[in-house]
Amino acid sequence: MLKIEDKLGRRFEKLRISLLNSCNFSCIYCVDNEFDENANLQPDQNGADKSISVEEFTQLIQAVHRLTGLKSVRLTGGEPLLYSNLYPLIENIKKLGINDIRLTTNAFFLKENAEKLVNAGVNSINISVDAIDNKTFGKIIRRSDTSRVFQGIEVAAKAGLNIKLNAVIMRGKNDSQIVPLLDYATELGVKIRYLELMKMGHLYHSENGLFFPEKEILSTIQEKYEIEEMKREHASTAHYWRTSNGGVFGIIANESTPFCHDCNRLRLDSNGYFFGCLSNAHGEKLMPYIDNEQLLAEKLKGLLLLKQAVKFHGSELSMRNIGG
Ligand code: 5AD
Ligand code: SF4
Repeated sequence: MLKIEDKLGRRFEKLRISLLNSCNFSCIYCVDNEFDENANLQPDQNGADKSISVEEFTQLIQAVHRLTGLKSVRLTGGEPLLYSNLYPLIENIKKLGINDIRLTTNAFFLKENAEKLVNAGVNSINISVDAIDNKTFGKIIRRSDTSRVFQGIEVAAKAGLNIKLNAVIMRGKNDSQIVPLLDYATELGVKIRYLELMKMGHLYHSENGLFFPEKEILSTIQEKYEIEEMKREHASTAHYWRTSNGGVFGIIANESTPFCHDCNRLRLDSNGYFFGCLSNAHGEKLMPYIDNEQLLAEKLKGLLLLKQAVKFHGSELSMRNIGG
């Protein structure tokens, strides 16, 4: 295998694929205004046809896998459960010999998909849940009904999926929800991760008045629980703490505790563009090189060199395009 590694010893080991860039939510940190036509998006009647085909996704994954020996693939979006060819694609990825397949979802369509995901061989899912309080949560995702998210989480837990919850914490919007979210996760027996707000998409050029730092997330939790820091795993975006009542929470703190130095992620968007780093606003199409190992390896090396040394400085692209 050709060695595709940078000076910091970083390699591509995990591939994140944004299957489509539409979503039925319009989270305020991701979308700058409400797209009403997205509110009622249903699986099978959405923008999946705007994405590259399942065959193209498969060819690209196969070519990259051959050169890098991918350890896992994470399917994201937009909202991946809206992607009509999700299950055929998962089957193809498994056939390539990649067995660690994960998903990041807003959980709106999870209730009806949890069992299918387990049967397809997906073992682990990340779910965005920014508040427990319906009104607070609804204002963030710009949808009135948040109950399907919690139903989805509970059905997925019963189905045996390994779940992590993600909450983006914003000052004055949902910082009151830090402890309620932790209590909910602890009761359910799952990990929760708080994210510091990242300057992506429409936030790129704005003043970051909503920013709520790791330090304050910790002190908020410490008002109620004693906490103990756990050992960080290699290439983890989060670092974790255990609480005195048996809960586990993590913080993904791009600003306060950056995690670029051992990043092993490669990203592919729904149009077939690859990104070596979240901060690249422009991706590169690798389809022309899939049959030429030498050239493809050079292209991948080029993408690896685009990784930040220390921390991510933001991007004009939103998570909706580039995937979480
Ligand atoms: N800052 C931090 N987290 C974000 N996400 C989306 N946009 C941002 C942002 N600007 C989160 C979502 C989801 C994950 C994929 O990324 O909440 O949990
Ligand atoms: Fe959709 Fe995720 Fe963006 Fe929210 S953060 S609008 S769930 S893609």
